[in-house]
Amino acid sequence: MKVLVTGAAGFIGYSISKRLLQEGVEVVGVDNLNDYYDVRLKEARLHQLDQQGFTFYKESVENRYAMDTIFHKERPTHVIHFAGQAGVRYSLENPEAYINGNLVGFYQMMELSKEYSIQHFLFASSSSVYGDRQHQKDKPFNEEDRTDTPASLYAATKKSNEMMSYSYSQLFSIPVTGLRFFTVYGPWGRPDMAYYSFAQKMVQGESITVFHNGEMSRDYTYIDDAIESVWRLLHNPSEERVPYQVYNIGSSSPVRLTSLIEELERGLNKKAHIHYAPFQKGDVTHTFADVEKLLERVNYKPTTSFRQGMKDFIGWFTEYTVKG
Ligand SMILES: NC(=O)c1ccc[n+]([C@@H]2O[C@H](COP(=O)([O-])OP(=O)(O)OC[C@H]3O[C@@H](n4cnc5c(N)ncnc54)[C@H](O)[C@@H]3O)[C@@H](O)[C@H]2O)c1
Repeated sequence: MKVLVTGAAGFIGYSISKRLLQEGVEVVGVDNLNDYYDVRLKEARLHQLDQQGFTFYKESVENRYAMDTIFHKERPTHVIHFAGQAGVRYSLENPEAYINGNLVGFYQMMELSKEYSIQHFLFASSSSVYGDRQHQKDKPFNEEDRTDTPASLYAATKKSNEMMSYSYSQLFSIPVTGLRFFTVYGPWGRPDMAYYSFAQKMVQGESITVFHNGEMSRDYTYIDDAIESVWRLLHNPSEERVPYQVYNIGSSSPVRLTSLIEELERGLNKKAHIHYAPFQKGDVTHTFADVEKLLERVNYKPTTSFRQGMKDFIGWFTEYTVKG
């Protein structure tokens, strides 16, 4: 097995690359190191991966010629496609980044996976495909639920990825697995996400902006649990006539925004100064994963408690911020 990981300098791409290397799997990493957030964090992650078995290319996935050269030279057997423009709110500011990275880039990766007979193509979808389910917040989101009312362009690109890859799977029998991640957090995480940006603001004594009066909750998923799920699914492609599946990757345990702030206050030993703001367009109020399908397929579901996960994040954050 030789795995091409796109977005390898990103939070989840870095984490899966690290795990693959630990398991003795050869990894080819690709990332364009864009400046959506601090590039030094991406470089620091890459530095952690700088070891035997890891080869890195700084490239954009939508660059067909460059990606073709990489596939030709490296001959990966599996693709984990995590490169893409993340973030819901930013898709209102810079929609083009989502069209280029998430649609054009995705198409190029599918074409090359077909051309080079990739044995299993896994990609990052998102819980955002479920849309805003404000009035059904106690009902976990199930893979069978409708996903045709995206609340943002970001969500629309992720839903498109699911549909594009289904068509490739059906037409060319490519085994495809879509991973609907639910708010993945932890050490080496993403500074644009609430848990991380709140931590940064709180240590700097700045106020944090809380939307919708804090009436929000997220199914926070600890990074190691997400990675364990991806590792197991990597070895379990669908064997059906159309070898395509999507799975929720979540903890199935929603956390209220107010509880997130309490954990940060406790862990950082700081009081949060809260600035309340109205509901943000494009956002969703609640997420809640049903993970029975994942459990059934790989005999595993996330287990780390939010308190333990935040403790680990704050430990890393404190060290990284002090060092950095
Ligand atoms: N973290 C989460 O909670 C979460 C939830 C749902 C879905 N996802 C999805 O999972 C994937 C990984 O997310 P993440 O949290 O690691 O984000 P991230 O931003 O840390 O990682 C994405 C990486 O891809 C790179 N990249 C972006 N566009 C690229 C392009 N066109 N070509 C090459 N590289 C490119 C970026 O430089 C970055 O390093 C993304 O597709 C994201 O949308 C993440």
